[in-house]
Amino acid sequence: MAAQPQGIASRPAAAAAAGSNPMMVSTSPTTRFHSPPSSYNANASFGGRSTTGSFSSTGAVGDSRVVGNAKPLKPFNSTDIKILLLENVNESGRSILTGQGYQVEHHKASLPEAELIEKIRDVHVIGIRSKTRLTEKVLAAAKNLLVVGCFCIGTNQVDLEYAAKNGIAVFNSPFANSRSVAELMIGWIISLARQLGDRSSEMHSGTWNKVSARCWEIRGKTLGIVGYGHIGSQLSVLAEAMGMSVIYYDIVTLMALGKARQVASLDELLREADFVTLHVPATSETRNMIGTAQLDQMKQGSYLLNASRGTVVDIAALVEALTSGKIAGAALDVYPQEPGGNGAFFNGQLNPGWGDELRGLKNVILTPHIGGSTEEAQRAIGVEVGDALVRYINQGITLGSVNLPEVNMRSLTLEEPNHARVIYIHRNVPGVLRRVNEILGDHNVDKQITDSKGDIAYLLADVSDVKPSDLKEITDSLEALSSRILTRVLY
Ligand SMILES: NC(=O)c1ccc[n+]([C@@H]2O[C@H](COP(=O)([O-])OP(=O)(O)OC[C@H]3O[C@@H](n4cnc5c(N)ncnc54)[C@H](O)[C@@H]3O)[C@@H](O)[C@H]2O)c1
Repeated sequence: MAAQPQGIASRPAAAAAAGSNPMMVSTSPTTRFHSPPSSYNANASFGGRSTTGSFSSTGAVGDSRVVGNAKPLKPFNSTDIKILLLENVNESGRSILTGQGYQVEHHKASLPEAELIEKIRDVHVIGIRSKTRLTEKVLAAAKNLLVVGCFCIGTNQVDLEYAAKNGIAVFNSPFANSRSVAELMIGWIISLARQLGDRSSEMHSGTWNKVSARCWEIRGKTLGIVGYGHIGSQLSVLAEAMGMSVIYYDIVTLMALGKARQVASLDELLREADFVTLHVPATSETRNMIGTAQLDQMKQGSYLLNASRGTVVDIAALVEALTSGKIAGAALDVYPQEPGGNGAFFNGQLNPGWGDELRGLKNVILTPHIGGSTEEAQRAIGVEVGDALVRYINQGITLGSVNLPEVNMRSLTLEEPNHARVIYIHRNVPGVLRRVNEILGDHNVDKQITDSKGDIAYLLADVSDVKPSDLKEITDSLEALSSRILTRVLY
C-alpha cells in the first residue's frame, strides 16, 4: 500500500535546516553529512540492541535482515528514505522495504515520462521492471536518488553509465528465474518428442489425429546443453532424473553435475545430441551460433530449443532445416525482434524473411519470452532485489550491482561503539587513493576496501573511535576532492 510522502528536505533545504541543529549538519538521507544521533558519543559505549534502537524510529530495532550481531548502519531515520516502486513490483520486495520503515509509494503501472520526472525528483530509491525507461533526462531530474532496483533480469532500460557517473547504484536479479526456465525446457523436450503442440491445436480445431509415428519417449535420449550456467546446470539435473544422458559444451571448464559430461567442442555436442538446448548469453561470439553449418552437423530428426536470446539462432536457417525434415522440431521463446507489449504483433512485419513461415511449420513450439515468467520467479526477484537495496542503503554494500564495482565488507558489530562507515564513490583518477588515505590516515581505520569499474571507483572504510566532529571533517575533506562523486557516512 502506498505510504504518504512526508516531504523530505531536498539537498539545499536540508542544508538550511542544518542550521538549527547544534552540529550544523543535516539529517536528510542524501545530504553529504548526517548528524549522528544523540546516542552517538565518542566517550560512551552503545553496548546493546536497545541503544541501537535510537538510530531509527522504526527501522533498526528488531531488523530481521540484520544478521547476528551485525550493527544496522544508518545515518538517518528509516522513515526518511523515500521509495517509489513502479510496475507492480512483487509483494515480496515491497514488504522487505516497508519492513525497514522506509516510505514506500507503490504504483501498479509505469508512469509517462513527464510524471516520472516529477515523481523521481526527490526519491532516494526507485524500483522498476522492464517498461520504465530511466534515461539520462529522467535520472538528471533525480536530485536525491541513491539507488535503482530493477525487479527483473535486464537493465538496458536504465542508462547505467550516466547512473554510475552520478553515484547511483543499479541492482537487478539475473538468476532468480533459472529454475523456471529449466523446468520449461523439460516441458518442451517432452512436448517436441510427442508433437504435443500439433496434437493440441488439431484438437482445438476439432481434429482427432491419434498417431504414434515419430513420437518418442525421452528416456535414454541425449540432451546437449550449450552453456552450463545457472539454467543449463539446473536443467542437467532435471533431465537426468527423466532418464536422459546429458552432455554439455561451455567455453569454461565446469564441474559436471550427476553423470553429465562436458564435451570439447560445439561440433561434438551437435553430432551426439538428440535434443540441443541453448543457454548462453547474447555476445558477439554467440550471435548466430546456430546457423546452417551447425544445423547440418546435428543428427537427422533431432530437435533444437532456444530460450536464451533471440540472436543466438539464425532462424531463417532453422526454418530451412525444419522444412527439409533434417530437424524434427524446435521450440523458441526468444526472437531477434520482440514486441514491446502484448497483442497481435508477432507477424512477418516484426521479423521479415521468416516470421510468417515459421508460424506455419509443424512441431514448432513458439512462446512469448515466458521462460522465466512464474510467480515463484517474481517472488524470488522481489526478495533478491529488495535485500540488495536494503544492504546498499543501510550498509553501502554493492554486491550484485551492475554498474558500480562490487564491494562487500563484513558488518560492524554492536560491540564496536563509535565506529562509522565511510563510503566514497569517486572517479578513478591517478593519485586519488593517496589523497583519500591522507584524509582517513589521521583516524583509526579498522578495515578498508576499494574497487573500480571503468572510470568509477567505490571505497568503503570502517573507522573506529571517531567523534562526530571527526566525521564531519572526514566528510568535508572527501567532498573537497575533485574526484568526488558521492560521499556517505553511515554509523
Ligand atoms: N527465456 C527467458 O525468459 C530467460 C530467462 C532467464 C535467462 N534467459 C537467458 O538464458 C541465458 C542463460 O542464462 P543463465 O542464467 O544460465 O546464464 P549464466 O551466465 O549463468 O550461464 C551462461 C553460460 O554460458 C557460457 N557461455 C558463454 N559464452 C559461451 C559460448 N560462446 N559458448 C558456450 N558457452 C558459453 C558461460 O560460460 C556460462 O556458463 C541468457 O542468455 C539469459 O539471458 C532467458
